[in-house]
Amino acid sequence: MPVAGEDFTFRSITDEEFAHFFTVGERAFGTQISQQDVERERGVFELDRTTGIFSGDTLVGTGGIFSLEMSVPGSLAPVAGVTFVTVSPTHRRRGLLTELMRRQLQGLHEAGREPVAALWASESAIYRRFGYGTASCFHEIRIDREGCAFDPLVVKNLPSLDYRLEPARDVVDELARIHDAGLVVRPGDFRRDERWWTYRLSQGESRPGSGWTAPLAVLATIPGSDVGRGYALYRTKAAFTDLLPTGEVEILEIVGDSAEVRLALWRQVLDLDLMHSWRAWVAVDDPLHVALADPRRARPRLSDNLWVRVVDVGRALTARRYALDIDMVLSVHDDFCPWNTGHWHLIGGPDGAECRRTDKAADIELPAWALGAVYLGSGSLYALARAGNVVEQSKGALARAAAAFTWPVAAFCPMVF
Ligand SMILES: CC(C)(COP(=O)(O)OP(=O)(O)OC[C@H]1O[C@@H](n2cnc3c(N)ncnc32)[C@H](O)[C@@H]1OP(=O)(O)O)[C@@H](O)C(=O)NCCC(=O)NCCS
Repeated sequence: MPVAGEDFTFRSITDEEFAHFFTVGERAFGTQISQQDVERERGVFELDRTTGIFSGDTLVGTGGIFSLEMSVPGSLAPVAGVTFVTVSPTHRRRGLLTELMRRQLQGLHEAGREPVAALWASESAIYRRFGYGTASCFHEIRIDREGCAFDPLVVKNLPSLDYRLEPARDVVDELARIHDAGLVVRPGDFRRDERWWTYRLSQGESRPGSGWTAPLAVLATIPGSDVGRGYALYRTKAAFTDLLPTGEVEILEIVGDSAEVRLALWRQVLDLDLMHSWRAWVAVDDPLHVALADPRRARPRLSDNLWVRVVDVGRALTARRYALDIDMVLSVHDDFCPWNTGHWHLIGGPDGAECRRTDKAADIELPAWALGAVYLGSGSLYALARAGNVVEQSKGALARAAAAFTWPVAAFCPMVF
């Protein structure tokens, strides 16, 4: 492919090339890497789904796709997890990212693979032009000891559970079972096999000398039963300042089969002795927000989480479910993936859906990125309409579509990929 007078080759990379591929990509991110980082990433990368962009023999850009099974509203669906998108500082702003995006999406479409793509964006200004919309958000929270108390009414209702504290690596099977059982409830997370658990736990692992422990798991079970109902995954860093304890806790995730179990696990972690500050990324509807006696002390900061791209409108809208029955025609505009442009008849509800191309008149009109933004059930069609991005064509259609597309549980992916 010629860009600005130079010829470029796009191809997947080999096992031997992986360390160099990773180094070139990380250089674009500006990060320092270790051999441990290379090995961690090699464990999850699918070589046949990587893209190396070469100028002659020189690697100047990277990209990859993970084959994910992701929770979407009411179901699980294959999703292309787009990752490690970089262009070397020497070759930026010449259209290489654009060409990489085009090849990825066209490749998925032509091969009939994942109907949806998702990614974490390093910067939020990059991906809308390629048809991605912000499909979920999360809160980054930082709580000091003074802010850890729960509302007394919540404390009274906490379930009585048994707890075990284990090195997370020793209980991966249990963690996986609890995690996967809860998956279909919350859109935006994905099933983790052994490789992904290794990745998850090593993401939370620190360099030697940093003072952080390896990830620990506190597992909650019903008294008298050995069936796990939830876990909190965290690590700690002990410290003293002026002889006073100022330890830190990083909570990687708290997963449980009910809000009560999750809150009981929060209590376990927030009650750790000698710790002074806690930080975590949590779903915007995490029960912690209402359980804290003084919620502002969690200092929640909103950030974008997953960006979603509807690769094939028909298959994507068929793959999820809808909170209410919906029978409507969507007019989709998609300059970057023109096969999506046109009218689509969506009939769906809580038990399933079907979406096919149609000649019927449209009820609402929207660009592909807006469809990505509402795909996981958390984006607001109303907000998009107020900003002029979604246009109502038949009276009442916007309200009906917004009610059907919105899912009661907020989408959240706790893990960067
Ligand atoms: C982001 C990055 C991949 C862009 O690659 P690139 O080859 O320079 O992108 P392109 O030349 O195809 O740019 C396409 C368009 O996106 C815009 N764009 C690219 N990067 C952008 C950014 N970081 N912020 C805002 N706009 C950006 C370009 O200005 C261009 O806009 P135009 O079509 O209006 O002219 C590259 O700068 C990079 O590797 N950055 C560091 C790593 C990173 O952040 N990667 C993304 C991981 S999620």
